[in-house]
Amino acid sequence: HRAIGVAVLGLGNVGSEVVRILREHSEDLEARVGAPLELRGVAVRRPGKDRGIPEELQTTDAESLVARDDVDIVVEVIGGMDLPRKLILSALNSGKSVVTANKALLADHTGELAEAAELHNVDLYFEAAVAGAIPVIRPLIQSLAGDRVNKVAGIVNGTTNFILSAMDETGADYAATLAEAGRLGYAEADPTADVEGYDAAAKAAILASIAFHTRVTAADVYREGISKITAADLTSARALDCTIKLLSICERITTPEGKERISARVYPALVPLEHPLASVNGAFNAVVVEAENAGRLMFYGQGAGGAPTASAVMGDLVMAARNKVNGGRGPRESKYAKLKIAPIGDI
Ligand code: NDP
Ligand code: HSE
Repeated sequence: HRAIGVAVLGLGNVGSEVVRILREHSEDLEARVGAPLELRGVAVRRPGKDRGIPEELQTTDAESLVARDDVDIVVEVIGGMDLPRKLILSALNSGKSVVTANKALLADHTGELAEAAELHNVDLYFEAAVAGAIPVIRPLIQSLAGDRVNKVAGIVNGTTNFILSAMDETGADYAATLAEAGRLGYAEADPTADVEGYDAAAKAAILASIAFHTRVTAADVYREGISKITAADLTSARALDCTIKLLSICERITTPEGKERISARVYPALVPLEHPLASVNGAFNAVVVEAENAGRLMFYGQGAGGAPTASAVMGDLVMAARNKVNGGRGPRESKYAKLKIAPIGDI
């Protein structure tokens, strides 16, 4: 089979690790895909010699890179909203598959993006958008497709978990630990998204949409961040044999009127020390899924950082490339039923 052309948009924490893996494991990847994966170019904001990528592969014109005839799959790891939305739509509309880690975009625009993918019979994959390296999107879309999921809950933001764990374990300073999370490549470009719970709310919207076969957007998710949590709060929690975690909880509920609804919420909560989520520390994440027949499942691993996130991106890239080689698509989300989100007052 001819080579599969790959464009990587963004060469930051995640993009640079994606390119590293593509280059370091090119032979293995070729064997797994059935064709070589060839990097056609990387889009950056500031091209330069010191980026470890030949200058002729770097461009600031992401749009032209996406439009190239020899690009089959576009990996979007720029972040933001308007630009990636435009780039992803133009890729899908020209018959290219897309892999993205952009939860903020997906939380509000999955409908539009999934429709474009459907129309053009290409893949739109986003395993990296929720909980970094942890496979949780594909298990919900694929493995649990025949079950009835009742609840998806856990810790889905690495930065805030890193901060809360450090404050709890060593009494570390909030601001200094947030700055370290930035240096380690965990935090968003604007870390307000992490500490005020917007990132966790976007992930909750994605998880709820997939788990309950409906459309939930970030605005539907009740949200509180961790910026008001103090060292004294953590000490008080300890006195109760608890710790504090930023939890993201999505579940089916029955309203007082007897209607079935979805509740999705993100807030810092007391977690008893004997609970499995209490020992999820640092930038690790954990997601507990409760399904009618499977019972309780727990997914655990590195929730943020360049290499762990790039692992999930690469998994999607290999799947999308195999589909380009063999023909066909999928796995993909279900066609949506109309289960509605509960107003906050009903929770
Ligand atoms: P970074 O800020 O580290 O990287 C962003 C990259 O995009 C940079 O290389 C930047 O270029 C490039 N870029 C910015 N604007 C443009 C533009 N107009 N045209 C072309 N390139 C541009 O982000 P991350 O790698 O941390 O995150 C990328 C995405 O992955 C985000 O959506 C994020 O939410 C998501 N994500 C991140 C995780 C993490 O742990 N970091 C985990 C899961 C998802 P330059 O280098 O020149 O500035
Ligand atoms: N900023 C995010 C986090 C990156 O800290 O969880 C992973 O999605």
